[in-house]
Amino acid sequence: MKPVLKHIFQLKRTYEKLPFFDFLRDDELSTRERLAFFPCMASFIMSFGDLNRLVLRSEPTDDPWLKMINAHTYEDDHHWPWYLEDYTKLGHDDTKQTPGDTLRFLYSDATIQNRLLAHRLAHLVWGAEPVVRLAIIEAIEETGNILFALTSKIAAQYQRETGVELRYCGEFHFNLESGHAMNNDHAELAQITLDAIQQQDALQRVDLVFEWFALWTHELLAYANGSAQGAPRTAQAEAELTA
Ligand SMILES: [Fe+2]
Ligand SMILES: [Fe+2]
Repeated sequence: MKPVLKHIFQLKRTYEKLPFFDFLRDDELSTRERLAFFPCMASFIMSFGDLNRLVLRSEPTDDPWLKMINAHTYEDDHHWPWYLEDYTKLGHDDTKQTPGDTLRFLYSDATIQNRLLAHRLAHLVWGAEPVVRLAIIEAIEETGNILFALTSKIAAQYQRETGVELRYCGEFHFNLESGHAMNNDHAELAQITLDAIQQQDALQRVDLVFEWFALWTHELLAYANGSAQGAPRTAQAEAELTA
């Protein structure tokens, strides 16, 4: 697994240079502008709970790798309520929209990568043997580490400005993610021995994880920039949200 972990960290260094993350680092923009991508990722974030509960978790099992994965899924399957909490706190529940329009948005072309990412990851996981799934999870965790390290800084600034604590975007979530039994313990992962076929398979699958998450970030950035269809990014909409 060591060469796979090394590869993941190389991919992570490229991933953090994507335009979306430069956008999140851009101090010229207000915290609200930088968090404008937030509604766009709804379907993926909600699906991530299901990916853990329904795709990654396999119970009952005697397989030691699946046991490790199962334990991890119990840490990661219940973060979406914090997403909904921030969704409300950021004012998105105040926008007048019919349930039909909400569904239309969630299934619109503006959010294709979000929907696709969940399907793609499910396919990737189900096609892999358990020990390779550990590499997939590790790659996913590292993409999350880049995102939440940046959003937690924005959330801290947002809290200074407004007094509102964003738990999903903020340190609350980031600290939990950083303290995960598995992604905290790279040493344990590094000790796992993969045969040549498993290693090759793991390398290819982690490449795909980063490739698909990169597409996801491009979609979030497009939405934040208001270029995505149906994105309410007018100055007036902003003013209404902050009023
Ligand atoms: Fe999480
Ligand atoms: Fe996680």
